[in-house]
Amino acid sequence: MNKNDQISATEEFVKQNMKGYDSGHDWWHIKRVRKLALYINEREDLADPFIVEIAALLHDTADSKFAGENGENSYKLISDFMDKYGMSEISDHVIKVIKKISFSNKNKSEIQDDPLLWVIQDADRLDAIGAIGIARAFNYGGFRNNKIYNPEIVSLKETSGGNINVGTSSTINHFYEKLLLLKYRMNTMTAKRLAEERHEFLELFLKQFYSEWYFCN
Ligand code: ADP
Ligand code: NI
Repeated sequence: MNKNDQISATEEFVKQNMKGYDSGHDWWHIKRVRKLALYINEREDLADPFIVEIAALLHDTADSKFAGENGENSYKLISDFMDKYGMSEISDHVIKVIKKISFSNKNKSEIQDDPLLWVIQDADRLDAIGAIGIARAFNYGGFRNNKIYNPEIVSLKETSGGNINVGTSSTINHFYEKLLLLKYRMNTMTAKRLAEERHEFLELFLKQFYSEWYFCN
């Protein structure tokens, strides 16, 4: 089986596995992350483009927010899939990277010394900021039944471990707990550059949001 066939098979596998996810984690998110990861990697030359593409495609397949208790089971599914399609050689590495992506909120202090992880993580983080990041945040907040904004709830900031599952917080708070911090967390120079404009747009959005909110409250 050649690489193109392996990529097509992975696309199909991912589409099948992400059916129950919210629209911020849909196939379009995967496509954007793939494109961003390949773009970053092309400029930084950090990993083999094939493994970058496969890891980007699979990066949310076992996401703990959706897979829940079945997390380990999802990794097994991925590993079986990769064996079946002749990708055993790269499967351990890919799974290690996507595990770290899923738990990146929890293991902040862990040293990340894998260039493949840098690329995929940067791509995933870029898609969480800018106009699309804002759309995804409000979509996810709606999915979790969170408030758009509640001035009475103080931002949970980083002290909570940036726990994304806190249902009582608001989506505006999520900007302070996570989105506004991402540009400082980019691993590569290319992603740092791409993050600038997206970050500025978050700030512009917040300014306009408060001006409309406090005009009426
Ligand atoms: P990552 O992309 O780093 O894995 P997540 O999977 O935690 O991050 O989040 C995916 C998307 O959902 C991002 O766009 C993120 O901003 C958004 N999101 C996560 N938690 C929340 C929340 N509590 N409120 C609003 N949006 C959220
Ligand atoms: Ni993602």
